[in-house]
Amino acid sequence: MPVSDFELIQSWRQVLELSGLQAGQSVALLTAQGTNEQTLRCAIIAVQEKGAIANRLDLQPVNGGTSLSRDPLAFVGTTPLTNNRAAVEMLTASALVLDLMTLLFSAEQHEILAAGGRILLAVEPPEVLVRMTPTAQDREQVLAASKKLQAAKQMRVTSQAGTDATFALGDYPMLEEYGFVDRPGRWDHWPSGFLATWSNEGSAEGRIVLAPGDILLPQKSYLTAPITCHLEKGFVRAIEGGFEADHLRDYMDSFNDPEVYAVSHIGWGLQKRAHWAVMGFYDREASIGMDPRACAGNFLWSTGPNNEAGGTRDTACHIDIPMRGCTVMLDGMPVVKDGKLVEDAQ
Ligand SMILES: [Fe+2]
Repeated sequence: MPVSDFELIQSWRQVLELSGLQAGQSVALLTAQGTNEQTLRCAIIAVQEKGAIANRLDLQPVNGGTSLSRDPLAFVGTTPLTNNRAAVEMLTASALVLDLMTLLFSAEQHEILAAGGRILLAVEPPEVLVRMTPTAQDREQVLAASKKLQAAKQMRVTSQAGTDATFALGDYPMLEEYGFVDRPGRWDHWPSGFLATWSNEGSAEGRIVLAPGDILLPQKSYLTAPITCHLEKGFVRAIEGGFEADHLRDYMDSFNDPEVYAVSHIGWGLQKRAHWAVMGFYDREASIGMDPRACAGNFLWSTGPNNEAGGTRDTACHIDIPMRGCTVMLDGMPVVKDGKLVEDAQ
């Protein structure tokens, strides 16, 4: 069901307020072919309402002829900013970048952030943005959970389906996604509400058993049969199961890069306004799947790059895998139990 411009403008107002946008500052609105016109229109109005300057930068698509999927997260690393100095200079000179086209995992994004820029990604459909308009409480919840994750030396994940995997922690920063950019150098994603970090290089060990109903992204499919992923020394060494396991392996192999099998970020969802069921109601190209990524009580793990965390792995393939029904323990203390948040751990 659609939302009105009025509702979406109110949401943008809140996001810009939480992000501390001031009158007179320049805001760059990054767009491309897939940018939602309502999201763009309402963002410009909200920026101007603040007395700030709205500049639109429309970029050309890249990787379309190489990627096997039209999902913007399916082929990462090179972006329309690669070797595009004029665009990078404009974004670096802006107080705030509203990314309405999906600019992830790029060296240029890091450069903009390192110069004190703020980047907020917002590409989900307008009604999803409105439903998950970020709040100050979202931030408090994510930061409270982050304190626990920062203090932990080990994450262990188990499930009734047979998952039992461990990850050593401490070498990589936190990925605290709460939906707005309230300080210089910050990247965030509206909508979100989850927490992650990266396991220490080579430390992921054990077995992850994906159960029916668990989700693969960017495939955007609910699994219908179990898939077992064997982890050893930080990599997925074997993927076993039926057709869906074959499909996953075939897709990952298509990148011709052994690095695609590295374990990437690991964490859990905190957002109670995100819902597991939502993905089933959308066409695959209408959404990038933030509901299952952020859904409260999920275990979200992924494969592929770690360059956004300061690592050197910049492989183009990135699979996000939200799972239900897991227990996530930090140094033996559960923060998620059987797929539900342990409230006193938040
Ligand atoms: Fe991811």
